[in-house]
Amino acid sequence: MPPGLILGIESSCDETAAAVVERGARTLSSVVASQISVHATYGGVVPELASREHLRAIVPVVRAALDQAHVTLADLDAIAVTSGPGLAGALLVGITYAKALAFARSLPLIAVNHLEGHIHAVLLQQRQKAGAADGKPDEGDAALALVVSGGHTHLYLARPIDGAWSYTLVGRTLDDAAGEAYDKVAKLLGLGYPGGPWIDALARFGDPHAVPFSFAQIKPKAHLQGKAPRTKAARTAPIADLDTHFLFSFSGIKTAVLRYVELHNLRPEAQARIAPMLAMGRPPQTREAALSLCLQPTLDLIASFQHAVVGDLMKKTFAAAESLAASRILVTGGVAANRELRARFSAEAERRHLTVAFPTLELSTDNAAMIAAAAWPRFLAGDFAPASISADPSLALGR
Ligand code: KG4
Ligand code: ZN
Repeated sequence: MPPGLILGIESSCDETAAAVVERGARTLSSVVASQISVHATYGGVVPELASREHLRAIVPVVRAALDQAHVTLADLDAIAVTSGPGLAGALLVGITYAKALAFARSLPLIAVNHLEGHIHAVLLQQRQKAGAADGKPDEGDAALALVVSGGHTHLYLARPIDGAWSYTLVGRTLDDAAGEAYDKVAKLLGLGYPGGPWIDALARFGDPHAVPFSFAQIKPKAHLQGKAPRTKAARTAPIADLDTHFLFSFSGIKTAVLRYVELHNLRPEAQARIAPMLAMGRPPQTREAALSLCLQPTLDLIASFQHAVVGDLMKKTFAAAESLAASRILVTGGVAANRELRARFSAEAERRHLTVAFPTLELSTDNAAMIAAAAWPRFLAGDFAPASISADPSLALGR
């Protein structure tokens, strides 16, 4: 049995990441070069800039991951890379580099779906905690996984079958992802980018019940009545068979926040105060700092927005877990870093006698340890990528 050292490479969006993970269970290194400062000026990821930054970062990031793990390319057993979904040009940088390394060192190449990677960010820690570095195949009950990030809000039923994982799509957003709503609301309030950490920090100082935002139940089949789905993601996976109770829609709440801001004339106040705080580059951590940034009504709006989004994520995730008799829930992706989300999901799971697990904060957002971890079951199964593998920007996960 080889030592099971896999180098993971991730470049699907705005982080260039590399990591060395042993047997899908022990992280020897995890290096992430963020491009946040490059995209912050534009309030969102600019695909051309992302590709350019990946090109700049990929070699030093991989080198740093090997150095920090105290290994060389000669010690590796395989190279894993994100093949989709994501930005085409960004994905190609990682894929091309991974291919070249694999070819040069005669190593197997393993293609990993980014969404599967997020799920394995949690599984990696569970294996690590269980001391499963013996590389035993995963087993256990099916898990309901909520992948909630800037690009995705998807519910999967994940099952380990003979050590390999199979995924069934259970629910998803029909339009914006939850993280996208966080980013857009933060942008319209003049907060920093990405918006999630700002809203997370400021929401603690507002009244979550001040503005009664609500999510309408998605009507049966309404999303199928001759209308083309609006997002790229919505084209890639079947929605016809999904239970409408597990479908999300986050574009409405963003518009509702905008209306509220205009109606109550909150924006000028926010923007005038926020400039010095943005220059500091870090969300405020005390009530005093929060109030030096926003007036109380803005903090109340932010808290109400977050309360509504987390409530909707919770309601549908727990309903899906109950309906599919899943006794464990995994929540992962950038939004899983959110404090209120973690606290409320944990309390609800306890109330229902279910377990809920999250990745560490570092592994919630994009990283390559999750890619190397997701590759381990594929390595055991000999499931390697052909030399012809290319980027698949709208790659779907599961059935
Ligand atoms: O997983 P990720 O790094 O990239 C994607 O695959 O999209 O997620 C980034 C998203 C952004 O929308 C960001 O605003 C959000 O995760 N995010 C958060 C928090 N930290 C990051 N949202 C809410 N609360 C947070 N603490
Ligand atoms: Zn991601």
